[in-house]
Amino acid sequence: MADVVLEDLNKEYDNGFRAVTDLNLEINEAEFLVMVGPSGCGKSTTLRMIAGLEDISSGTLKIGDRVVNELPPKDRDIAMVFQNYALYPHMSVFDNIAFSLKLARRPKAEIKERVSEVARILELESQLDKRPAHLSGGQRQRVAMGRAIVRRPRVFLLDEPLSNLDAKLRVQMRAEITGLQREVGITTFYVTHDQVEAMTMADRVAVISQGVLQQVDTPMTLFNEPDNIFVAAFIGSPSMNIMEGVLIRTDDGLRLALGSQTLAVPDEVLQQRPALEGYLGRNVAVGVRPKDFEDASVLTDHPSDQRLRASILHTEALGFEIIVYFDMDARPVISQEALELSEEETSAAESSATRVHARFSPTTAVRAGDTIEVAVTVTNAHFFDLETGLAIRD
Ligand SMILES: Nc1ncnc2c1ncn2[C@@H]1O[C@H](COP(=O)(O)OP(=O)(O)O)[C@@H](O)[C@H]1O
Ligand SMILES: [Mg+2]
Repeated sequence: MADVVLEDLNKEYDNGFRAVTDLNLEINEAEFLVMVGPSGCGKSTTLRMIAGLEDISSGTLKIGDRVVNELPPKDRDIAMVFQNYALYPHMSVFDNIAFSLKLARRPKAEIKERVSEVARILELESQLDKRPAHLSGGQRQRVAMGRAIVRRPRVFLLDEPLSNLDAKLRVQMRAEITGLQREVGITTFYVTHDQVEAMTMADRVAVISQGVLQQVDTPMTLFNEPDNIFVAAFIGSPSMNIMEGVLIRTDDGLRLALGSQTLAVPDEVLQQRPALEGYLGRNVAVGVRPKDFEDASVLTDHPSDQRLRASILHTEALGFEIIVYFDMDARPVISQEALELSEEETSAAESSATRVHARFSPTTAVRAGDTIEVAVTVTNAHFFDLETGLAIRD
């Protein structure tokens, strides 16, 4: 059941800038929904509209079954944690967590019980007498969350709460926040620019770009079936390789031309994506995830006609895998939004070669300078319309 419903939500700031356009989104009861997108795409604006900190220009916002567009923040039954959470430095952990309950004049016994429960869930029981200054960064973050959830709000809103933590603590806190959310079963809307954070924490991920929702689905579906080039390029690390290609029907069956090389295309590729039939002979955007390349001398039984020749430019040995880089003489395809993200990719877009990154098994013996055969799992390739950017499926 939907607990928070955004219907045709729009936000136009006073200066005329449209930060959110026709947003439709449902957050289910007890769901952990993460909104992810590049900086400036409208995530905080959306969260602040749900919180009541920002006026809604048009559209309807429901929490529970109530339209809350005009309701002040304090009456919306929400709690928030921001990136720059501030604890009261002169108060103990107990008093920090208890603050809102004291403000609401709850009975002492109830306050004690609720703070104890939250402290147990957040493993802060032994820290309750300490001042924030004597806590670690992770503990302070937990106090901030405890302070928010102690009132048992209907909806928990978090805006990039981990941005100020170092990398190791960030990874640890991801698990803590999802564990906490599951334990208290609270409907949660979490925004971040970090797609790894989104993928690892969310029940469902809402991908947004320039104020427009791109796709909402489970992490695995976003990864395996991105609806458009933006989602394909944004979700996954290292990112999908996307270049121009042409599907051609030959006497020997279907072929995919990528620059000067061709790959055989198994029949199932067309069967699973019937709409591709209408694109035969036309340029399309072809996406291949780094995991769908492998050193052919490791994958020895891979069909010989589903291999590319590649001169390896550079390798990065990560222990459990090796990332290898090579160029293909096919034009790179990069979404407009992705272009704005990276200078490096901008210069790539002007060239006719695509720098491919591939994940090889660590048993590969490949070195920079080698020319090798690369196995491609063609059945996993993604195809997009070059003009609309939309996935070509059915
Ligand atoms: N008060 C404001 N007036 C005008 N533009 C704003 C205001 N607040 C934010 N914006 C713009 O709206 C866009 C979305 O901002 P925001 O929602 O904060 O993005 P995100 O949280 O995704 O980084 C940005 O381009 C930002 O500059
Ligand atoms: Mg923001």
